[in-house]
Amino acid sequence: MAFSLMRLLGLSAGDSAQNRRFGDYQVVKLMHEGEKSCVYQARLGEEAAFAIKAYRPGYNRTARRLAKRYHTRMEGEMGLLVNPPAGTDPKEHPIVRTIGFGWEFNDRGRCYYIVQEYLDGFNTKHMIACEHPLLKQRRLEAARTVARGLGIIHERGFVHRDLCTDNVLMTRDGRAKLLDLGFMAPIGLSFREKSGTPSYMSPEQFQAKPLNPVSDIYSFGVVLYEIFTGRLPFLTPYNSHNRDLMMRRMGDLMRQHLRNPPPPPSSLAPDLPQGMEEIILRCMEKSPEDRYQGVRPLMVALAQVGEKGQNGRASV
Ligand SMILES: Nc1ncnc2c1ncn2[C@@H]1O[C@H](COP(=O)(O)OP(=O)(O)O)[C@@H](O)[C@H]1O
Ligand SMILES: [Mg+2]
Repeated sequence: MAFSLMRLLGLSAGDSAQNRRFGDYQVVKLMHEGEKSCVYQARLGEEAAFAIKAYRPGYNRTARRLAKRYHTRMEGEMGLLVNPPAGTDPKEHPIVRTIGFGWEFNDRGRCYYIVQEYLDGFNTKHMIACEHPLLKQRRLEAARTVARGLGIIHERGFVHRDLCTDNVLMTRDGRAKLLDLGFMAPIGLSFREKSGTPSYMSPEQFQAKPLNPVSDIYSFGVVLYEIFTGRLPFLTPYNSHNRDLMMRRMGDLMRQHLRNPPPPPSSLAPDLPQGMEEIILRCMEKSPEDRYQGVRPLMVALAQVGEKGQNGRASV
C-alpha cells in the first residue's frame, strides 16, 4: 500500500475527521480505518465517551442486502440485544455497550452508523504483535471474560461468527471486551456467502453450513491459541488486497482448517499455563461433536487452568 502522510494522520477520504458529525455526535478523532468501517471517538456536548462505527458505502450496501435476504437485523440492533441488563455495572459487561444507531446522509449516499460506549484501550491483535505486558498479565482473565461474552450471545439465541483477536479489546485497566457484532446472526441460520475472518473460521463456517454456538467455540480456540502462543495456528503465504491472492489465501486457510491438526501450542509456548493445551485443542476439534458443547463446560475447564506454566514456573 502506498505510503501517505495524509492517510497516516487520519486526514484521508477528503475530509478532516474533526469536522464530521453523526446526528448530535461530534467527532473528536479517527481511531480505525478498515475495509468495512471507520471508527471514531466522538462527543455529545461535553461528554467525550462515545465511539461511532460508520460503515463504508460498499459494506453498507452489502450489510443491508444480507439483512434483507436473511431477515436478520443490522449490527446496531443486534448490539442492543446483548447490552448489559438493567441494574448491572456496564463496566463488568464483557461485550461493548451499544447506545444506538442511525443513518448519515452525505455525498456518497446513505450510510449506517452505530454509537457505542468508548473503550479506552487496545485491540488485542496489536497487543500480541507488540508483546504488550498488560495482555501477558491479564490473558487468562481475558480468556474467561471473552468466554462469558460468548455465553451471553449464545443464551440470547445468536452466534457471533467473527470472533478474532481484532475483535477483542483490552481496556487500560485490563478488562477484555468483545467487539464487532456485524456478523452476529440467529443460531442455525446458514448463509450462502462466506463471512468471518478466514484465519479463525470453523470448518463448518468455511463450508457455509448452518452455524451453532460450537462454531464460535472453534474460533475461540484460535483466539486462545494466538493469545497464548503469539501466533496463529495456520499460516499462509498469500496476503494482499488483490482479489486473486485473496481467493488463494481463503482456499489455503480453508484446506488447513478442514484437514490439518494445529501444531501443539506447547511446542510454540513452553510456558503455557497447565491445562491450556487441552482446552485449545478441544475447542479446535474439526468435528463439532468433539468440541465443548457450549460455553458452560468451557468455562468450567478455564476455571481450572492454573497460573503456573507446564514447567512449574509462573507463566505470565
Ligand atoms: N467502542 C469502541 N471503543 C474503542 N475502540 C473501538 C470501539 N469499537 C471499535 N474500536 C476499534 O476499532 C476497531 C474496528 O472495530 P470493529 O467493530 O471490529 O470494526 P470492523 O467491522 O471494521 O472490523 C477495533 O479493533 C478497535 O480497535
Ligand atoms: Mg472487526
